[in-house]
Amino acid sequence: MENNRGQWGSTFGFIMAAVGSAVGLGNIWGFPYKCGANGGGAFVLVYLILVISVGVTTMLGELAIGRKTGRGAVGAYTSLSKKYTWIGYMGVASGFIIVGFYSVLGGIVLRYMLGFLMNLLGMSGFPAEGFFGAWIANMPGMLLFYAIFMIINIVIVMGGISGGIEKFSKIAMPALFAMLLIIIVYVACQPGAAEGYKYMWIPDFNYLFSNFFTVLKVAAGQMFFSLSLGMGCMITYGSYLSKSENLVRNSLIIPFSDTTVALMSGMCILPACAAYGMEYAGGPGLLFNTMQTVFTQGMGGTIGNIMGFMFYLLVLIAAITSSISLLEVCTAYLIDKRIEKGKDPQRVKMTVIMAVIAFVVGLPTALDGLGTNVAGGAWMNNPAEMFGLPVMTATADWLDFYDFLAEGVLMPLGAMIMSILIGWVFGTKKLIGEEVEVSAAKFTGAKFFDICFKFVVPVIMAIVLVAQITSFLG
Ligand code: PHE
Repeated sequence: MENNRGQWGSTFGFIMAAVGSAVGLGNIWGFPYKCGANGGGAFVLVYLILVISVGVTTMLGELAIGRKTGRGAVGAYTSLSKKYTWIGYMGVASGFIIVGFYSVLGGIVLRYMLGFLMNLLGMSGFPAEGFFGAWIANMPGMLLFYAIFMIINIVIVMGGISGGIEKFSKIAMPALFAMLLIIIVYVACQPGAAEGYKYMWIPDFNYLFSNFFTVLKVAAGQMFFSLSLGMGCMITYGSYLSKSENLVRNSLIIPFSDTTVALMSGMCILPACAAYGMEYAGGPGLLFNTMQTVFTQGMGGTIGNIMGFMFYLLVLIAAITSSISLLEVCTAYLIDKRIEKGKDPQRVKMTVIMAVIAFVVGLPTALDGLGTNVAGGAWMNNPAEMFGLPVMTATADWLDFYDFLAEGVLMPLGAMIMSILIGWVFGTKKLIGEEVEVSAAKFTGAKFFDICFKFVVPVIMAIVLVAQITSFLG
């Protein structure tokens, strides 16, 4: 059965794949803009505390459930008890929703990378200004790049665990890291960059105390999205781990690496904004508007094109290694079902089926012009207009609508229920004894793990859930 499902080929390969899942648009886009808009250093401080208390424990919990049951999200919860199957379905639903909009965004990133590449080759890759607004209303272009990005996902996931996902991540992740480092060093040499570091590293406690709940909510939401938690992704990746892997060590390495890349990307983007006189708090426009201007006009010339090309290539890699993990959550569901029935997994076919469904689910995100609607040249209206709903963040465009469903509701709910299950129903002692300690020495953090699962994670997740819902509906 094990071999039929697939298994990671090496510890390094697994770590690259899991870090690849974690490091994504959330790190390179979400982290810097949320940090920029929520107090800089104050945000970083709260974020770090959350990673240590909630992130590491939840990671360990998910990997342990996955390896113990040897199943993807749905199968894993069913193995624990039939009563919990629905929690697994919530995960697969999040997978479809996120992989759809994620791939639309990935397609845009791909277009930017090609733009800079063409500039480098002496062709005109794109207009230096106003490109983003025009591009998101260019329906055939958006569709084409969305489709290309989805096909890249299919090709990798089709290759299987060690032959596809691991193989790609082992090369792509070190490359991403190297490119990010090069850009950071270049940016650090620009006059004026220091302001960006100061903003990011010196916490303003006055700001923190007067905005504590907002900072907590944004940081916590960002943290578990960034670590790919709460929707069965790490359960699925854990299910391909061999019993000889040390789960505790991996549960430290993955969040540590993910956080390092988030901080590095902050140290690339915030000082770059400072050096070239751009807004930190540019919000979602940061990745596409602000950064394009940084490269084309701030840095300018050939160096701007080289840095721009490298930057969007690394964002592309980050996006691909995350979206393949999302597609894998969906694919693993079908594969587990087939194996249960004693059938051949047929990974290639199952991958294509799930990717096609995900593509259809994600289509509205590509077709509403990210909220510009039919009036702005898009082919579809936003959820508010289509369904006659009041205009709120969650209905203003399909991207926000899906983000609300997945990141706002399903994921915090999933993480909360999982922690309650582990903490109160299943018991951390049992999980530790039966899974965590099978391949490693005595787990010294058992007490901490127990308290986190019983109290810290459920409470933080409940806060996130309530806060997300109120802010999206606001
Ligand atoms: N962690 C990814 C990011 O930061 C997103 C993701 C969420 C991937 C959930 C898989 C599962 O962009």
